[in-house]
Amino acid sequence: MPQNGNLPFTYEILQGENIALSAYDNHIIRRLSSMKNQFLDLAAYDTILSKQDSLLYEVYEIRLPEEAGVLLQGISFIHPGKVGDEYFMTKGHFHAVIETAEVYYCLRGTGYMVMETPEGEWAVKALSPHKVLYVPPRWAHRSVNTGAQEDLVIFFAYPGNAGHDYGSIEKQGFRKLIVERAGVPAIIDNPRWLPPDRRNNEAA
Ligand code: F6R
Ligand code: ZN
Repeated sequence: MPQNGNLPFTYEILQGENIALSAYDNHIIRRLSSMKNQFLDLAAYDTILSKQDSLLYEVYEIRLPEEAGVLLQGISFIHPGKVGDEYFMTKGHFHAVIETAEVYYCLRGTGYMVMETPEGEWAVKALSPHKVLYVPPRWAHRSVNTGAQEDLVIFFAYPGNAGHDYGSIEKQGFRKLIVERAGVPAIIDNPRWLPPDRRNNEAA
């Protein structure tokens, strides 16, 4: 039964072959078709999509009131795969209330969290089991699975009033991309990314 956020509760993150929450309210599924213009290789994107609308990632959430003071929680599974040389990833977002932070805990797999501020400062942090990542207020965040076969599984908690702002990321993408080079992950510049002071002039 959904919680109202005002009473203590517990649940388990089941750690068998398939990691799972012992209870959840929401299951979000994101497929390739919802990531138009996000992967660098547009031709590879179209080719894969013409064959199948691949499942990129899934999120299981515990529903709580979307209010300041509450912490929303859940787990994300980013599946393995690539579009061209670029690894499967989440859409990524700023929080609509931009001053809200988020904590991630990596349960399984390998990958990166790609982050940036509205001013264009960027950071990329590696994720592996047992690593905790703090995403500060104002930093957009996207998780990327660089594993060949395994899901990247991450637990998250963030303020109930944070909301999601996908708009600016959908237009620009992130400043840095995670691609495979000579068989290993590499961080490269996104050629479509423009610094904030050039966006309005050249995006039109
Ligand atoms: C919530 C958060 C995560 C992501 C999830 C999917 O603020 O950062 O729960 O929502 O990993 O990523 P997006 O929302 O970018 O599709
Ligand atoms: Zn977030």
